[in-house]
Amino acid sequence: MRYIIIGAGAVGGSIGGKLFGQGHEVVLVARGKHYDALRTDGLRLATPEGTLTVGVPVVDGPHALEARDDDVLVLATKTQDSAAALDAWAARPTSAPVVCAQNGVENERLALRGFRDVYGMCVRTPATYLEPGLIAVAGSPRPGVLHLGRYPGGVDDTARRIAADLESAGYLAPVVPDVMRWKYGKLVGINLKNAVEAITGPITSEDAREVARLAAEEGEAALRAAGIDFTGAADHAEYQGKFTAAPVEGTDRAGGSTWQSLARSAGSIEVDYLNGEVVLLGRTHGVPTPVNVILQRIANEFARERSAPGELSAAELREFAESVRG
Ligand SMILES: NC(=O)c1ccc[n+]([C@@H]2O[C@H](COP(=O)([O-])OP(=O)(O)OC[C@H]3O[C@@H](n4cnc5c(N)ncnc54)[C@H](OP(=O)(O)O)[C@@H]3O)[C@@H](O)[C@H]2O)c1
Repeated sequence: MRYIIIGAGAVGGSIGGKLFGQGHEVVLVARGKHYDALRTDGLRLATPEGTLTVGVPVVDGPHALEARDDDVLVLATKTQDSAAALDAWAARPTSAPVVCAQNGVENERLALRGFRDVYGMCVRTPATYLEPGLIAVAGSPRPGVLHLGRYPGGVDDTARRIAADLESAGYLAPVVPDVMRWKYGKLVGINLKNAVEAITGPITSEDAREVARLAAEEGEAALRAAGIDFTGAADHAEYQGKFTAAPVEGTDRAGGSTWQSLARSAGSIEVDYLNGEVVLLGRTHGVPTPVNVILQRIANEFARERSAPGELSAAELREFAESVRG
């Protein structure tokens, strides 16, 4: 199979680099300065064991690559960029499977409009992209855990083959019949905190933890009201200790993917599809979600105004969150 990684940032660059390093055929798709750096100098992949330069082929769009029957598209953009990226690749003559290696639960729905075979991937890996050409993957002893399954549900041979390739590249890649249950679990268990981290900086204070707890509480209530099943701590127990974020020399992972968008002044962030998903479900099913509403609003404002992460204190955010709860 040839893996075409659409969006060779933190997640795409690390999965693509790791697969390529094990002899799999990979093409990265990138844009702007990152594309220029990858094309000129190769992908610099920093890991706890050291940094290597990997000569993975890179293109800037589908026009530069002839379609093949064994192509697998791995979508690894932030969700706000997914529709445009999918549109560009859907016009090809073959119908390649699409794997959504992303957070949130919207990408698979977007992909299914243009592609017959869509797979969800619940991505757990500490990966960082802050500088063109350089991707850090801090997971140790494994780079991460990637639950994979067919969307909306089920498993098939394609999922098993992709998972086997990912395992050969060092990931744990369980194939599961209910991948969206894992993705909803990650959404409420982990990703609602992304905005808190982006707004206030690393979550180390009681104030920041309390805002994150309130957001998660609303998220769980909204999912329950919607009748959506999601994974919890017990499901994750067997993956504890399979990877942790180890230090990577020369790179400074001070935050997750939303934090990184602000740190790079990317101009947009994914919050409409993380906290915004809970807000949407809450509004649909009559569950108040005021804390997620303000996290969505403030984080979007930070992105628009290109504010640095951490510009609002955790104490101020907590005060604000408690005031909107009434
Ligand atoms: N980072 C993590 O540790 C982590 C862990 C688990 C899950 N995730 C999830 O994985 C997904 C990807 O996150 P990420 O952190 O890897 O994002 P990222 O570092 O921002 O990488 C996404 C890349 O896609 C590029 N891109 C967007 N549209 C494109 C297009 N049409 N063609 C080519 N390239 C395009 C972006 O370019 P620009 O730089 O020009 O915008 C960026 O380089 C998100 O859903 C995120 O929540 C991230």
